[in-house]
Amino acid sequence: LEISPFIQSLPKVEIHVHIEGTLRPAIRWALAQRNKIPVVTKGVTYHTYEELLESYKVIYNHRPEQGGRKDVPTFLEAYFAGCDVLRTEDDFYDMSMDYLKRCSEMNVRWAEPFFDIQAHTRRGIPFEHVLNGYLRAQQNGEKEYGVKSKWIFCLLRDEPVEEGAKAYDQALPWADTPNGKGLFHAVGLASNAYKRPPVLFKQCFERAKRDGLHITTHCDFGQTDTHEHIRQAIFDIGIERIDHGLDALDDDKLIQGLVDSNIGLTLCPHAYHRRTKTEVLFPKLRQLLGKGVMFCINSDDPVYMHDVWVDGNMEKAYHYGDLTKGEMVGLVRNAVHMCWADQTVKDTI
Ligand code: HPA
Ligand code: ZN
Repeated sequence: LEISPFIQSLPKVEIHVHIEGTLRPAIRWALAQRNKIPVVTKGVTYHTYEELLESYKVIYNHRPEQGGRKDVPTFLEAYFAGCDVLRTEDDFYDMSMDYLKRCSEMNVRWAEPFFDIQAHTRRGIPFEHVLNGYLRAQQNGEKEYGVKSKWIFCLLRDEPVEEGAKAYDQALPWADTPNGKGLFHAVGLASNAYKRPPVLFKQCFERAKRDGLHITTHCDFGQTDTHEHIRQAIFDIGIERIDHGLDALDDDKLIQGLVDSNIGLTLCPHAYHRRTKTEVLFPKLRQLLGKGVMFCINSDDPVYMHDVWVDGNMEKAYHYGDLTKGEMVGLVRNAVHMCWADQTVKDTI
């Protein structure tokens, strides 16, 4: 699907994108050379750049715990395998600057990238390398490309809660608090949701709120127990946004909860389109509009989802969702409303 001039011209806000999911194969290859390490995904070593590129065409949309194949990498296995080439502060910086440059090309004015610090510390990377790389990109991305950002510390839900709490403590000096460095202003929850409900992390969320940060959680589309996860997020945790959360449409009580608490969904249409028929998926966008549920359009992990970025996701909503130009502008306004930029910054988007 080509990006139309209308979609290209819209000013954009992206608030659901994992920075590690923007690591393009060309950069992954270059960083592996620089660090003198092989490029490996699930036991397969790629000896040429062409072989590596080919591997990204595999559709990572199956869930082994739901009966999917076990021989090809899942989306998350590919995503975490990609992280292996990130070793030095410069590696984290270069990946992030590449995303922010891409933002400027797509007319993205404000971004709230998630980062998975545990994906790096559990490989033995010092947390300062990660956070200082991101901090320098936040600063220089604004200077060089005019893209402002505040980032989101993301807990890995399939790791022990105590590990997440420890990582949070280490990262706190980089937070957007009175004495902090201003990198991240929120805490999120992602990775494999199977048997890892958000309520397990309730104390981490409460801690973040006490520290003056925002909170959001993934409730992946089609995940086992997704309705219970959404219910917990709204009613037990008091979450401010939900990442995905599209399954709420199956249950009027969840929809009512979203509307009553003014909780918006950060949707990523292409992520669902990988495993859902067009005629099943896209009418859901109009249903949400009809029910008054706030949502906006994002990319999630563009590199591991066939190189469909936020502009491509918006094009899909526009084209397959049969939305009007006015409705697309409305979705951008939703993103501005849902993002956690200062009002003075929002006024300039
Ligand atoms: N789902 C869950 N966890 C994630 C994702 C995702 O799409 N991307 C990065 N972590
Ligand atoms: Zn996500």
